[in-house]
Amino acid sequence: MCRKTLVLVLQLLPLVIPLSSAAYTWPSPQYDALEGLLFEGRRSDGSSLSDLVHPCRKRTGTLASVPAEWLRFAFHDMATHNVDDGTGGLDGSIVYELGRPENFGLGFNQTLNDFEAFPNKLVSRADVISIGAIMAVATCGGPVIPFRGGRIDAWAGGATGAPEPQFDLPTLTEMFRKQGFNQAEMIKLVACGHTMGGVRSSDFPQLVAPDPNSVYPVFDDFDTTMAFDNDVVTEYLDGSTKNILVVGTNQTMNSDLRVFEADGNSTMRSLGDATVFQSECQSILARMLDVVPKDVTLTDEITLLPAKVNAAQLTFEKNQLVFKSTFRLTQPTNATANANRNVTMLWCDKYGDNKNCAGKTNTALSVSKLAESPDVSPVTKNLGYSFLLYDFVVPINNAASISKFWFKVDEMDGSAATTYNNGGSGYPIDQDQVLFVPMLSHVDVVAVNTTSPQTYTNRYGQEFTRIYSLVAAVRDGVNPSRVYAEVSDVAVKDFPVAISSTIEFTQNSTSFPPQSGYTFYTSKMDDIGLQLTMDLHAVSGQSTYTQTFVQTLVLDNTPYVKPGAVSTVASSKSAAVRLVGGRSWEVWHALVLVAFGVVYLGESLLGWAL
Ligand code: HEM
Ligand SMILES: *[C@@H]1O[C@H](CO)[C@@H](O)[C@H](O)[C@H]1NC(C)=O
Ligand SMILES: *[C@@H]1O[C@H](CO)[C@@H](O)[C@H](O)[C@H]1NC(C)=O
Ligand SMILES: *[C@@H]1O[C@H](CO)[C@@H](O)[C@H](O)[C@H]1NC(C)=O
Ligand SMILES: *[C@@H]1O[C@H](CO)[C@@H](O)[C@H](O)[C@H]1NC(C)=O
Ligand SMILES: *[C@@H]1O[C@H](CO)[C@@H](O)[C@H](O)[C@H]1NC(C)=O
Ligand SMILES: *[C@@H]1O[C@H](CO)[C@@H](O)[C@H](O)[C@H]1NC(C)=O
Ligand SMILES: *[C@@H]1O[C@H](CO)[C@@H](O)[C@H](O)[C@H]1NC(C)=O
Repeated sequence: MCRKTLVLVLQLLPLVIPLSSAAYTWPSPQYDALEGLLFEGRRSDGSSLSDLVHPCRKRTGTLASVPAEWLRFAFHDMATHNVDDGTGGLDGSIVYELGRPENFGLGFNQTLNDFEAFPNKLVSRADVISIGAIMAVATCGGPVIPFRGGRIDAWAGGATGAPEPQFDLPTLTEMFRKQGFNQAEMIKLVACGHTMGGVRSSDFPQLVAPDPNSVYPVFDDFDTTMAFDNDVVTEYLDGSTKNILVVGTNQTMNSDLRVFEADGNSTMRSLGDATVFQSECQSILARMLDVVPKDVTLTDEITLLPAKVNAAQLTFEKNQLVFKSTFRLTQPTNATANANRNVTMLWCDKYGDNKNCAGKTNTALSVSKLAESPDVSPVTKNLGYSFLLYDFVVPINNAASISKFWFKVDEMDGSAATTYNNGGSGYPIDQDQVLFVPMLSHVDVVAVNTTSPQTYTNRYGQEFTRIYSLVAAVRDGVNPSRVYAEVSDVAVKDFPVAISSTIEFTQNSTSFPPQSGYTFYTSKMDDIGLQLTMDLHAVSGQSTYTQTFVQTLVLDNTPYVKPGAVSTVASSKSAAVRLVGGRSWEVWHALVLVAFGVVYLGESLLGWAL
């Protein structure tokens, strides 16, 4: 009996908790940034990395396979690893290695351009390369490769190490050993890589004859489909392959043939099963992406968060202190979202009689909601989810301010509402002393003349630099001795430099008169990059107040959304217990599960009794 109950409860678990996110609590700036780029496919201003590759795109003009180029880019970046001394690996060094014979080809240069706007202080260029490879495989029907972040970028080229087709088998085997892969793994890596794309005449005219009547290269694909499937294997095994690295007339260049039959075809035969191919590629490519220099520690796997707080910001808009946030829920793509669902944000005052929801809790409904296309990222799409976004903009009384917030999702169908409260404690607003004010800030993108030392040439060949005018609000009473920001931008074309400096803010009551208990400070800076971020600080006596990882991507061009209506409700006892007692959503679910178990136990007892 007991055993039967246990089995029933265990079977329930995956149904009740659809996605797990282990010990995640908000805010986790790096996790949030990596999760966003991988699963939403874009950086925080909406610029999409995913759109460049998805759905399994060909490049305008050359008609090259973008996913193939991205996957090859990741392999060649990793290929400089030396397992003997722990140097090299997936560290972004490839951007300084493109002049080498082993990294020859337009595909590399185009991929470099694709990626240039996406790294920032928390998302390294090497993490972008990995995420790119994961998107590339997913969008062409391949497996979802687990992603861990935290790769650290190199700022110079490393050793050589990428294989070339004229190398003999012992040389190739030794190169892969140095990268950390044995013979069978080498075969799998090549088969999993060479299922997409092919050889192009512009790069290897000795293998693929150019078409004299076309300005574009001729592609000789490795197999008959563009998809991430095992055709490259089955066509090899059944002898129909046209893979030029197998059947080319110059045997010296048949590196795929040498690799594929290195163990008498036994690994290739195992990959002849489509399911085996997908799962073997999933694990070997995950290992490939995780080859990093020995002093780099990767994060745990970045998994899709079932509920996520995005773009949370306490700031001024049109002379009003406001709190803004977008609450993101996942929606299984095989089910219809409930149109009647009400999503409410609740929050506590930080000061005054209702401090920490002593008597009253503030509530507001979302001002807008958006059901996103499952195509924002091929990774999320392949997992079977899309996103529902609930936008909140609420006015904040400066005397009361805000200490924490959380959300309640009511399906309006009689079922109990679900509370999302960051594992019990609420989502914290840790300080209101220094706030970035995007709506008063602005950026001038200006062409510069040749006497200016810093220029940025965008992908259309135009020279630009960005001049930022930044505004911060400092709460009365702070009386800061210094207001400053540590600014960072690594998204510079071709990655020659990382911008990293400190800028000072000065009080500017002339242009921005004090209001609602805040005084305004301004600063100005030039940037040649594409994704400026900063940590904003106000120093007051022994204390320093900080807003971490402030993104300056969306400034005064923000579409203005009026704050919604606020109500207050008497703080409920259960809400207080949940918040004060720190019981998490997961714990409540576990309790519900136990209750379920008891019901099942009761039923089965009843069943047995009858
Ligand atoms: C023995 C080892 C390997 C050799 C000699 C080799 C060689 C080549 C060559 C000559 C090309 C044609 C490039 C061009 O025309 O621009 C190519 C393309 C490609 N390789 Fe490899 N490769 C090897 C291993 C791998 C591995 C391990 C991966 C990834 C896991 C990979 C991924 C790719 C992809 C995706 C393409 C297509 C690129 C495109 O269509 O733009 N290769 N490889
Ligand atoms: C790619 O960039 C490298 C480094 O800037 C350059 O040497 C090479 O000629 C470029 N290749 C192509 C095909 O444009
Ligand atoms: C075959 O390829 C090798 C390596 O690229 C080259 O040295 C050799 O000349 C080629 N042989 C023929 C017959 O083209
Ligand atoms: C491996 O398989 C290929 C394709 O069927 C065949 O041409 C080759 O001779 C085989 N090699 C060995 C060592 O069995
Ligand atoms: C949706 O997919 C999940 C997971 O594959 C499955 O368990 C569920 O039954 C599906 N729901 C519908 C309505 O098809
Ligand atoms: C649900 O939302 C609608 C507007 O979206 C609102 O009119 C209604 O009062 C809400 N109901 C509850 C119980 O919050
Ligand atoms: C070019 O820049 C320099 C330095 O900023 C400036 O003094 C000069 O007036 C500029 N010239 C033009 C033509 O804009
Ligand atoms: C105050 O801000 C305005 C607008 O950004 C700017 O033009 C002015 O130079 C600033 N004044 C000081 C003292 O920083």
